Amino acid sequence: MHQQLESGIRERIRQGLLRSDTVMPSTRALATDLGLSRGVVVEAYQQLVAEGYLVSRTGGYTQVAPAAAGISLPDKVKPTPSGPPRIDFKYSHPDVSQFPRAAWLRSIRKVLNETPHRSFAYLDGRGSEELRSALADYLNRVRGTAAQPQDMLICNGFAQGSRLLLQVLAAAGFRRLAVEDPSDNELREVAAAAGLESVGVPVLDSGLDVEALERSGADVVLVTAAHQFPTGAVTSAETRAALVAWAAKRDALIIEDDYDAEYRYDREPIGAMQGLAPERVVYAGTASKTLAPGLRLGWLILPTRLVEPMSIAKVVDDRGSPVLDQLTFADFVARGEFDRHLRRMRPRYRRLRDALVGRLAERLPDLQPIGVSAGLHVMAWLPADLSEEAVTTAALDRGLGIYGLKPYWVGKPGAEGLVFGYGGLTEPAVVEGIDLLADTIASLRR
Ligand SMILES: Cc1ncc(COP(=O)(O)O)c(C=O)c1O
Repeated sequence: MHQQLESGIRERIRQGLLRSDTVMPSTRALATDLGLSRGVVVEAYQQLVAEGYLVSRTGGYTQVAPAAAGISLPDKVKPTPSGPPRIDFKYSHPDVSQFPRAAWLRSIRKVLNETPHRSFAYLDGRGSEELRSALADYLNRVRGTAAQPQDMLICNGFAQGSRLLLQVLAAAGFRRLAVEDPSDNELREVAAAAGLESVGVPVLDSGLDVEALERSGADVVLVTAAHQFPTGAVTSAETRAALVAWAAKRDALIIEDDYDAEYRYDREPIGAMQGLAPERVVYAGTASKTLAPGLRLGWLILPTRLVEPMSIAKVVDDRGSPVLDQLTFADFVARGEFDRHLRRMRPRYRRLRDALVGRLAERLPDLQPIGVSAGLHVMAWLPADLSEEAVTTAALDRGLGIYGLKPYWVGKPGAEGLVFGYGGLTEPAVVEGIDLLADTIASLRR
């Protein structure tokens, strides 16, 4: 009750309906008016005083705080004055306009027509058997994994899969997670919340620096072996073997985040590490790059000893992922629609990648793109005369969203660079975006 009251008063203050300095009714009067106990009103007022919406005055009355009326929304939701960038190289957008709606609809129809009633009951914590089977077949064929349906778990994207995994590992006594430096920053927060310490290990052109990993004292490591995020480095065969040897020697675990491996343009994809050591590697896949991030569909292939604790963790967390989506995706994969979709998307993304790399070479030859062979992003180190901060800020003034590496460093920031996510753009937008960047940099250099 007090929370409802608080949010009602807070909203009215934010909207300016309760102006600064307005004297609030006494707690007794408001409680009587609303038919509440006085304690509820007192608690709500105290909370709003603590938040700065109200001030309590000597003399026993409460007023709307002077600066509170029309209080601004938190920064996160505050609209930027200039609106979103016109062309945005923000990483992690696939082209969701290409979502295979017709094929997905056929799968939904089929599932609704043919699925027995019992499938709509609570599921096994690992998720739908149909989807685990379809994905195991697909991954063993396309990613060279050694997956068995009974060792797979369906989750709401990598976000949930990795969170549950880190919690389960922390409970099992794992202590220190090694992450690639640079790498996705969100995971480190998740690890900290689970009670694991994170350490950064440098990424070389051939993948993680395994000697540094050995020195790190980690008992679990997370790698984006197929296409490192954000550098795009592809882990070499030697490094894969060294990682597996490290895990065996130390009785450690490898988490393989295989987030965008299906998009490889210049040669055949390299198989997943999980196939080399199924009892040492947790494989994590997601539909976020291949289909759409909003689907929230992800999957893990687990070493046998982790299947039961992970299955329990998933049930405790949310009782399972939505069954219709799982069955639809299972049918979509089993009927070959997933392969067809990827075959259709690969040349599209490749053309975008070629347009980006080609235009960069023409307009900004001193920004050498790296990690171009796969995925939906490339990276380029910045020459010494340019800073990320200056380039990204000046670009935004021209309506261009381009992003630096800074958030991805684990320890002290390393060299400066730019990440170009191109998955959600069109070819003309990519070309225009690089032209805007070239103009921005030319003006900074003047
Ligand atoms: C490195 C990395 N792994 C995995 C994912 C996929 O996360 P999710 O499956 O939760 O959408 C992303 C998404 O951007 C990513 O950047």
